[in-house]
Amino acid sequence: MTDGRGVDSECVETTDVVIVGSGVAGCVAAIGLAQRGASVVLLTKDRLEDSNTRWAQGGVAAVLGGSEDSVAAHLEDTLAAGGGHSDPAATELLVREAAAAVEGLLALGAVLDRTEDGSLARSREGGHRFARVLHAGGAATGAELSRVLVAALGPAGVDCREQAAARELVIEAGRCRGVVADIGGRSTRFEARAVVLATGGAGQLFAVTTNPTGATGDGIAMALRAGVPVADLEFVQFHPTALAAGPPGAPRLLLSEALRGEGALLLGPEGNRFVDELAPRDVVSRAVEAEMRAARSPHVFLDARPVDAFAERFPALCAALAAFDLDPARDLLPVAPAAHFLSGGILTDLDGASALPGLWAVGEVACSGAQGANRLASNSLLEGLVFASRAAQAISGGRVGPRADGALAPLLEERSAGALPVRLLPLDEVTGTDVVRAGPDDVSAARFRLQRAASAGAGVVREPVGLAKAGAEMAIAGAVADAARVGHGEVPRAVAELGDLALVGRALVAAALARQESRGGHFRADHPAASEAFRLRFAFGSPLSEAAAIAAKTDAARTYAARNGAAQ
Ligand code: SIN
Repeated sequence: MTDGRGVDSECVETTDVVIVGSGVAGCVAAIGLAQRGASVVLLTKDRLEDSNTRWAQGGVAAVLGGSEDSVAAHLEDTLAAGGGHSDPAATELLVREAAAAVEGLLALGAVLDRTEDGSLARSREGGHRFARVLHAGGAATGAELSRVLVAALGPAGVDCREQAAARELVIEAGRCRGVVADIGGRSTRFEARAVVLATGGAGQLFAVTTNPTGATGDGIAMALRAGVPVADLEFVQFHPTALAAGPPGAPRLLLSEALRGEGALLLGPEGNRFVDELAPRDVVSRAVEAEMRAARSPHVFLDARPVDAFAERFPALCAALAAFDLDPARDLLPVAPAAHFLSGGILTDLDGASALPGLWAVGEVACSGAQGANRLASNSLLEGLVFASRAAQAISGGRVGPRADGALAPLLEERSAGALPVRLLPLDEVTGTDVVRAGPDDVSAARFRLQRAASAGAGVVREPVGLAKAGAEMAIAGAVADAARVGHGEVPRAVAELGDLALVGRALVAAALARQESRGGHFRADHPAASEAFRLRFAFGSPLSEAAAIAAKTDAARTYAARNGAAQ
């Protein structure tokens, strides 16, 4: 679009709320807001059905009653998996509101698997003491949730824009007022009273990942560039059983933990069992990695032959394995750990509000503290359902800024029950562009190198030299992205994603170097035990958040501003 002088100008649209991302969290927030009367624009950089959610297999952990299980047991299991790093209030909300979230899904028409007597079928997965994982299509739960939620967007009145890549937050007078998105090469500014980031995680930082190619940490990078506090990036969950096959760099096929819940075994190259298959995921991944190193093998095996009626119960997995010429009733399946889930993200309160008034984050992009240092199996779709619905309610109720609760609380006030202290790491060390210079190298080659360096140095087992090498490669990738931007009006998607990956990766590495202990999804070979000295969250963010300071509509925001020395 050009103005009267023939100069390119930005297209501007206005709505009540902009949602970025079309996975479970984005859809639930959008539907909840639209149903309460807000005008909602939902942006997604691919198609609506392209999200991490669609790839999610295992299910939704929820205690519905009618068994010896209890919400208290689900809470205990989630906290135990979280490695002493969870925000107890956030975790409690997660498990307490699970049953209502499932009711909501059923009301929308989700078809979950049922037993012969018609009740919802429940599976057991690692770290769960009871069978409480609800599922669809055996292990195609994400696809079913995506189907029903995407179908509900239109009828709810959500204005959906596909191929619309949000690039930057619009921040004015200390508040988030919208986002700028690239739509078909044209910049569009969406002005809104609230922006909800639901952009998912950053599995694409790693060469070996279960995440789709779009999982490039966009929302986290936008927050980092704006100085909005982001925490816990060092806690990456590696799923122990991704199929060790496929073209280099392509997302790996996940072999759901539900299979181990149904009796599948992990075997070393000699056919030996070497771990409790139903231990929490971080424990199993480290055991797999150790077995691979000891045997000098690129994989171990998942023996799914003990699973009854595999083909009938897990038809989607069976079909996917057939494409690799593997038959789970006959063959041992080669598996290795793959980056799967980021526990950290944008620090939020218990309703998904970030430190920046007007900006909300829900689902994997957020760090509510509910998942601790290692997420319990099948608690991620649940997180999206619960916290997105809370955010929709809070925004509809007129909330603008954060409350002093959840993982965000320590940034807002001195005392907050149970919350871990937050220590800010220097943001300019990861956002600085003068660290290294690079020419306009091949962007896809730089992404490939970054991913390989992350897998080698910031993977399941970390040590300082490998981390430093990964950080250096990420700085180079960032410089390549910067160089490739020069001369472009609109930044090509590959360049924007490389810049986002490099930024999030640099922050991840810096936090992983700072955390000289092992906990949950962060294991340091040179500090193999957890340490009381590190019972805190490392965060990046502007210590002087103009945003929170100027708006200062809430007590919490005023306290935040005062503590950080910002002028009112
Ligand atoms: C799985 O099915 O193993 C993955 C589910 C999850 O990420 O919790």
